[in-house]
Amino acid sequence: MALDRIDIWTADEEPRLSAVLSECWALLVDGAADPQHEFHTLALATASAAQGCTLRTVVLRRVERETRELSFYTDLRSRKIGEIQADPRVGLLFHSHADDTQIRIQAEARIHHGDALAEAAWSQVPLSRRRDYMVSGPPGLPWAWPTSGLEDGLEDHAPSEAQSLSGKVNFAVVVCSLRQMDWLYLTPHGHRRANFAWDAEGQLRTSWLVP
Ligand SMILES: Cc1cc2nc3c(=O)[nH]c(=O)nc-3n(C[C@H](O)[C@H](O)[C@H](O)COP(=O)(O)O)c2cc1C
Repeated sequence: MALDRIDIWTADEEPRLSAVLSECWALLVDGAADPQHEFHTLALATASAAQGCTLRTVVLRRVERETRELSFYTDLRSRKIGEIQADPRVGLLFHSHADDTQIRIQAEARIHHGDALAEAAWSQVPLSRRRDYMVSGPPGLPWAWPTSGLEDGLEDHAPSEAQSLSGKVNFAVVVCSLRQMDWLYLTPHGHRRANFAWDAEGQLRTSWLVP
């Protein structure tokens, strides 16, 4: 936890909603920056015509408080992309045992592929991680035997810059614009819950809730 973070629970008074909102953003920023942080991964829910809804773990890559945006990377061929195209409303779930905190987010997702934003993100992906986008078929494609989906040699070695280009066409950044954030803090003496919702004009409405 960042040293300069507001200590919202050992203070004499109940925290203000603005302090709680700052705490949420601080946790998310830390989560994106620190692979050991429990907010580094999240559960992403999408609507699915076939299955009602689907869930999967993704890595939180970027957090922008000013624009209220969270980003993750994915394979353009993956099922979630089609689901987001059909309905961009997504749910994001974070839980930190260490911070006794759950954050649930409703957001609208935007897919970036082959544009300046995706290009800039791709340049930051280490060669070894670019393999994630070099699997031979769409993630989830049935195969006759256990497979990594990688070409021979790539399981043990990172691709060269030139080789990795075959993954670039599959690389997408999904940017999620927050519409609503629900914060739940667990304590042995009764929990606390708050909601933050932004309307279409970006106006924020805040409220305490019964946990
Ligand atoms: C710890 C962990 C991190 C993962 N990170 C990502 C990620 O950042 N992006 C991603 O597309 N899939 C990631 N996955 C894989 C997804 O959970 C999922 O299996 C894959 O994206 C296919 O999902 P879909 O078929 O619903 O599209 C991760 C899985 C785990 C266990």
